[in-house]
Amino acid sequence: MNAVGEISPRPGLSAEARKALDSRLGERVSYTEAVRSQHGHSETHFASCLPDAVVFAETTEEVVFVVRLCAAHDIKLTAYGAGTSIEGSALPIAGGISLDMSRMNRILTVNADDFDVTVEPGVTRIALNNHLRDQGLFFPVDPGADATIGGMASTRASGTNAVRYGTMREAVLGLRVVTADGREIRTARRARKSAAGYDLTRLFVGAEGTLGIITEVTLRLHPIPEVITSAVCNFETLEGAATTVIQAIQLGVPLARAEILDDMQMRAVNLWGKLDYPEQTTLFFEFHGSQASVDEQVATVGELAAANGGGEFAWSSLAEERSSLWKARHEAYYATVGLRPGAVGWATDVCVPIGRLAECISETKRDLAAVSVPATICGHVGDGNFHVIFSLDPEAPSEWEEVESFNARLVSRALSMEGTCTGEHGIGLGKQDALVDELGEAVNVMRLIKHALDPRGMFNPGKIFAAN
Ligand code: LAC
Ligand code: ZN
Repeated sequence: MNAVGEISPRPGLSAEARKALDSRLGERVSYTEAVRSQHGHSETHFASCLPDAVVFAETTEEVVFVVRLCAAHDIKLTAYGAGTSIEGSALPIAGGISLDMSRMNRILTVNADDFDVTVEPGVTRIALNNHLRDQGLFFPVDPGADATIGGMASTRASGTNAVRYGTMREAVLGLRVVTADGREIRTARRARKSAAGYDLTRLFVGAEGTLGIITEVTLRLHPIPEVITSAVCNFETLEGAATTVIQAIQLGVPLARAEILDDMQMRAVNLWGKLDYPEQTTLFFEFHGSQASVDEQVATVGELAAANGGGEFAWSSLAEERSSLWKARHEAYYATVGLRPGAVGWATDVCVPIGRLAECISETKRDLAAVSVPATICGHVGDGNFHVIFSLDPEAPSEWEEVESFNARLVSRALSMEGTCTGEHGIGLGKQDALVDELGEAVNVMRLIKHALDPRGMFNPGKIFAAN
């Protein structure tokens, strides 16, 4: 229950394993409590735990070495990127080694003419975009946090641009992966499409580090659009805002971003960022394209908004204004948690077919009215994906119980609408029962794959499903 959790003493690694690690990696192996705690802590409500050691890898060869050592000594191995998972995906709950990939942060090759880039997994999304900007290219996948590309690939992350540019499922062209038996494989070459055998790329994307360790990622890029215009528009109701976006999608408007923030989320964003937006349900939009195309998109969306109870649009084409708008949106989670000092965050994450979204969000808002814990709603409305974020008192078990049962109701509402228990945060520790409710026997097929690729259960144990 307690977010800080019990940190129980562990027997640690054997003297022999420590000696082998130390002699190959020296100072890049840490056994200190501070470093281990940092790697055993998540940004959300899961209890902390301690790895026995943290290893900072710098090359694929070192990853192969660590994997082989773990296999030989029966040590559990959990990869760690920026530690920003919302479902506890990087927590080393069975101890062993936390393999920190953040120093593998080289951008290896930018193929500007082919619109792709190959990076090491510790590169963060913001660092990548800073590197690409001068070449007129960008990488669109943007979860709230400045996550690493390896972590984002592993959780099949998305964010505000997914409605137009897709999620990590579309963004990853190929991977270099170290498997449990210490093999080093490439899942694809750089071709835009391929019908070459099983799609191992997409097997590892979203596997949450349970099947192998990603050591290189080749990503699709996009040209920075000629015109980028953002807009903010308030609505009388949550349903009116959601309906505006759904109708725009149904009309084929190629929205680049369409984010919903409820009144409470706008309040949290204002307090957190010292901003002064009206505290009403709001849509944040972005339109990309030629001037003519953006004008046309804007006109269509303006008409739809007016018909659905939307107010005036506040437009901006200025880069600084746009970046402050999206910064406010990206910090929505932190803004909500920050509503109460000392609070712990819990973010839910359902996704439904867009035709059911307005109904799903409205029912959820009504359900939320009876919950005593401060909460906000925000979402990637063009994808049918939204979150309820709670700011929990870590010392109040009744709040945790309330949120747990609210989350269960939310998931079953989404499943009853043919949606999913997670649009982008993954299963991790928090959605394992929901995964079974959603996919049933298919989860046993996932177990077969896990068993074939990692028979000893070495990689990220206890995630997606409990060991059987
Ligand atoms: C967001 C995270 C919580 O959308 O997914 O801000
Ligand atoms: Zn999100």
